[in-house]
Amino acid sequence: MKTAKTALITGGASGMGLAVARALHSKGWNIALVDLDSTNGTKVVAELGLNSIFIETDVTDYASQVLAFEKTVARFLDIDFVFANAGIAGRGGFYD
Ligand SMILES: NC(=O)c1ccc[n+]([C@@H]2O[C@H](COP(=O)([O-])OP(=O)(O)OC[C@H]3O[C@@H](n4cnc5c(N)ncnc54)[C@H](O)[C@@H]3O)[C@@H](O)[C@H]2O)c1
Repeated sequence: MKTAKTALITGGASGMGLAVARALHSKGWNIALVDLDSTNGTKVVAELGLNSIFIETDVTDYASQVLAFEKTVARFLDIDFVFANAGIAGRGGFYD
């Protein structure tokens, strides 16, 4: 039986995605951390512990993304919230 809400967060291994993952996890949500970066992803999931999974995914690849949704539902039964956040942030100066 479903007991908690589930968030699927792309780009969840770092930055804003990670901040949202931590915030929701602290409120009892299940977290599916979906990211290319398996080093950070597995580290974060080890830190969050129960009710979190890391799914190595490239969001530019449709099949890879479908698999991430399927694995999340297989583990947590449902998805209540998707944060489509993965991407490459510009690192240059704002005025450049
Ligand atoms: N930080 C900003 O000021 C800012 C401003 C505008 C937009 N954004 C956007 O917000 C999002 C998050 O920004 P952030 O600063 O937290 O960045 P970040 O670099 O800290 O985190 C982005 C995460 O996305 C992952 N990622 C990148 N490409 C991926 C792919 N193809 N598949 C799966 N995962 C992938 C990275 O591994 C990383 O963990 C990005 O999409 C960025 O472009 C950020």
